[in-house]
Amino acid sequence: MCGIIGYIGGNDVGDILLKGLSRLEYRGYDSAGIVLIEEDGRFDVIKKEGRLYNLVGPVHDRAIKGCVGVGHTRWATHGRPSDVNSHPHGDASGSVWLVHNGIIENYRELSQSLVKKGHRFLSETDSEIIAHLIGDEFSKGEVSLHEAVRRVVSSVRGSYALGIVHRDFPDRIIAARHGSPLIIGIGENENYIASDVPAIMDRTRKVIYLEDGEVAIVKKDSVKVFDLNGNPVNKVPCEVNWSIEEAEKGGYEKFMLKEIFEQPKAVENTIIDRIGPKGKTVTFDDMEFYPQQARKLRRIYIVSCGTAFYAGYTGKYILERLTSIPVEIELASEFRYSDPKLQSDSLVIAVSQSGETADTLASLRMARENGCKVLSIVNVVGSTISRESDWVLYTYAGPEIGVASTKAYVTQLTAFYLFAIYLGEMRGDISSGFASGILDELKNIPGKISKILEHEADIRKCAKSFYKAESALYIGRNFNYPNAMEGALKIKEISYMHAEGYAAGEMKHGPIALIEDNYPVICICTKGKTYEKMISNIREVEARNGQVIAIANNGDSIVREIAHNVIEVPEAMEELSPLLNVVPLQLLAYYVACERGCDIDKPRNLAKSVTVE
Ligand code: AGP
Ligand code: GLU
Repeated sequence: MCGIIGYIGGNDVGDILLKGLSRLEYRGYDSAGIVLIEEDGRFDVIKKEGRLYNLVGPVHDRAIKGCVGVGHTRWATHGRPSDVNSHPHGDASGSVWLVHNGIIENYRELSQSLVKKGHRFLSETDSEIIAHLIGDEFSKGEVSLHEAVRRVVSSVRGSYALGIVHRDFPDRIIAARHGSPLIIGIGENENYIASDVPAIMDRTRKVIYLEDGEVAIVKKDSVKVFDLNGNPVNKVPCEVNWSIEEAEKGGYEKFMLKEIFEQPKAVENTIIDRIGPKGKTVTFDDMEFYPQQARKLRRIYIVSCGTAFYAGYTGKYILERLTSIPVEIELASEFRYSDPKLQSDSLVIAVSQSGETADTLASLRMARENGCKVLSIVNVVGSTISRESDWVLYTYAGPEIGVASTKAYVTQLTAFYLFAIYLGEMRGDISSGFASGILDELKNIPGKISKILEHEADIRKCAKSFYKAESALYIGRNFNYPNAMEGALKIKEISYMHAEGYAAGEMKHGPIALIEDNYPVICICTKGKTYEKMISNIREVEARNGQVIAIANNGDSIVREIAHNVIEVPEAMEELSPLLNVVPLQLLAYYVACERGCDIDKPRNLAKSVTVE
């Protein structure tokens, strides 16, 4: 999910690769590396954990200048950040070198065939398996390098953008993509590959966008593209006239908007490679519970901060719905100073996008001092919280640049669904039939989120109807009560409008006193066991001339009749509705902040990761 660059031509390969990678640094990464190949086959691989800067000295000191090379900035998904897990990865003979963006879902199966042939792997990554497979296929001597790549990627499930070079073929780069972006830059007697336009914009603005399933042979004076069946594909280069800043956001106005639109992919990536083989609905490679451990669990505590707290709060509803375990939800900043009666048969779940939040980390340490096991749900591989947990359930949202969390939130919810299905089935709290039914519904969520995003313009119109308000009230019930609080946090932190998220059942106990002419109340009113109650809440607000913006299911004529504004979302199981209902709340906050001219990606007084108390 991070950055790829490749160059073939007569200029300084190392310098071009490093400059290209530096243009991709904004995307966040944990390690970087390049490979340079000379015409005579001599090559050099320089790769290190940490900042790109660590490569500059070694690359400039190297005797190898190269005529072709590929480079990579890594956002670890499989194998923590380290020199050996950094890309490029070589095949068994050290002839094929590969950089990869994405997640290979079936890398374990694919590695088994290689292990039987005596292959040994240096890294813990899924990517290295692909390098070995290509080397193994090509070494048979039956096909060309690009044909070997085509054969290998035809057997791969998951997402990949690949840049491949071979020490004996310094006249070409092979590129392939499925699910992760990859472009080809067209120069004068030199060509490029890159995962994103910023990497090559100061070299060329003439680009070819590879489509899923395409494989390309990139030489310095020619580019040939084929589909997965080996048929040539005619590609017409286009001229990119974005500024660097626009390119970094992929054409979106702000990183936050880009990340809202990345949510279908982020959810898909978090589900991928966790759908178990027959007999087990969900399996985790990086977190193995055993039935006896699962059955011994008597209580779960979920500790986190901010948006992660609302994800954890939703996780409480999910876990209590799919298992028979009572769940406590705790603000980490309170938990660490409280006196919870932790027992050894309690499990503490720490939720954190950054994996570095001080209060959450302190809570995790306290839990472990009290003899509790800790599972963390984290987006950054190798972060402190992940390293100090007994088990880690990674979310695969990719780097989240915007300070206001969006795609990390939905992938945290996704992780809770996966874990609850896994635990509930293992304990016998839910049947395998019910478990696989929920998982099937979960797999439809990315497509349903995309449907909501198609109505962005309608949501923007709603935002314009109340952006001048002094404050707003967000109300929801049951599975969507935490979403109401998350929606209120979003609008607070990026538009500076005061807002409160409330359990809708509490309206008559106080908040209804706020309602006056045009007072904005965002009501989450999708189908479920509290739907009728939410209809009553809408009526009581409208009766006092409040301005209701309702989140309702497509075609809900009842809500449409009584609410000022309605934002429609596709129907889904009530348990899964938070994954959909939060998307309009994110866009409402975003467009209110736009109307107010706020600095959306870097809101005042906020940091992306609060590593201090
Ligand atoms: C959410 O939009 C904020 N960026 C903030 O509340 C954040 O969720 C909180 O600081 C927790 O961060 P973490 O997930 O990295 O632990
Ligand atoms: N899954 C690969 C790894 O963990 C690639 C990650 C990325 O896209 O940077 O190394």
